[in-house]
Amino acid sequence: MSEPRSNLERFVLAGVERLREQDPVLYEILDNEYRRQANVLSMVASSSIADPSALICEASTAMNVTAEGYPGRRFHAGCRHIDQIEQLAIDRAKEVFGAKFANVQPMTATSANEVVMFTVMQAGDKLLGMELDSGGHLTHGSKASISGQVFDAVGYGLDENERIDYDSAMRQALEHRPKLVICGTTAYAREVDWKKFREIADAVDAFLLADITHIAGLVAAGIHPSPIDHAHFTTTCTHKQLYGGRGGLIMIGKDYDQPAPGGKGTLAEMIQKKVFPFFQGAPNQSSIASKARGLAFVGSPEFKAVAQRIVDLSRALAGAFVEKGYRVITGGSDNHIVVVDVREKGITGVNAEKALEDCGIVVNKNRIPFDQRPPSITSGIRLGTNGLAIREMEPQDMVECVDIIHDILQGVRQESDTKYSIEPAARARAEEGVARLCKLRPITTYPPVVD
Ligand SMILES: Cc1ncc(COP(=O)(O)O)c(C=O)c1O
Repeated sequence: MSEPRSNLERFVLAGVERLREQDPVLYEILDNEYRRQANVLSMVASSSIADPSALICEASTAMNVTAEGYPGRRFHAGCRHIDQIEQLAIDRAKEVFGAKFANVQPMTATSANEVVMFTVMQAGDKLLGMELDSGGHLTHGSKASISGQVFDAVGYGLDENERIDYDSAMRQALEHRPKLVICGTTAYAREVDWKKFREIADAVDAFLLADITHIAGLVAAGIHPSPIDHAHFTTTCTHKQLYGGRGGLIMIGKDYDQPAPGGKGTLAEMIQKKVFPFFQGAPNQSSIASKARGLAFVGSPEFKAVAQRIVDLSRALAGAFVEKGYRVITGGSDNHIVVVDVREKGITGVNAEKALEDCGIVVNKNRIPFDQRPPSITSGIRLGTNGLAIREMEPQDMVECVDIIHDILQGVRQESDTKYSIEPAARARAEEGVARLCKLRPITTYPPVVD
């Protein structure tokens, strides 16, 4: 490695050295995690492989600065550079998504969604969101989250073709007259029609929130249509398809200067107040730096090819499952997600997830439409291609991935909903296949693992 060129480089190297010397236990765990990620095929649809340049921002001294407020209007001194970082992240978010307003401070997409809910609703108000087992997210009205406990949530779902049932969403809206309609999904492999959702919201004078947490990269690259000027608010996390630091982002398009409910300022002004001081104190400035880095990556011309690869791999993955006789929900994929029904294999989603992980393939158990099993068991698995795209995999590699997955699942003997064993020969073949693929397609942006 060349001599450190800057204070930042010397700082990062000194930090790693001090960790090794002073906390070998934690150092080893973190080193093992690096090794694990290099040696498994991570196909969790809600994860990705962030660039080292984004992750290193999280390890910077920006973390030390307490900076309540916003650039130029802080409640603490010492924020000269912090203001520059936050402004850069705001400007990049606006540029990448064509937004008129961006708040980069929310710590998660969950809190971004909560901010929007509390901007336009009071406790007890009606909210219309997508049902969990249809592919909606917990924060869209589930009883397990604030969204379903503080607000009176009703849901829409899928039609007989497992596509979003816009007609039923309109009927639900007309019957319940929600204050907020939420669209955007967590386990839905098809395009979302933002314009139709705006028509539904407008029909009952509701606000529309589009949560693009899963597909933000495809939206940034122009591969999935953008909701920015259809929805009143667009939220996303920054750590899945934006390949940046862990956190949330709220944006507004053409409606940014519409009056907020209660007549106290515009929608944009009210979001600022609800993020700070209503929900949060001082933001995580190193995470904001990392968000800025991720946004620069997805705004670069090179990212278009990454985004296209994400979709090409997902289509090939879905096709390979169908070819092997699996029921893929909706029959294919338009984004990075593939949801597979594993009931015909005689196993539960959780056993499939665990057996695959035992062999080095990381996916997650997922409910399928109208699933009779609870979220801890499920009848399906959800896979995603964000990480595989960073490994620069090719569509033909997806056939090999599915061959390995199929071999494992064929070798699983289910003892109960949560207990299973894997035939040793199938396991050995799978481990060999995963090791071969990881070597052939390493994480291109990370230094190779040393033993
Ligand atoms: C659609 C959607 N919204 C929100 C979230 C929550 O994201 P976070 O973990 O950043 O709170 C997720 C998580 O996967 C999601 O899929």
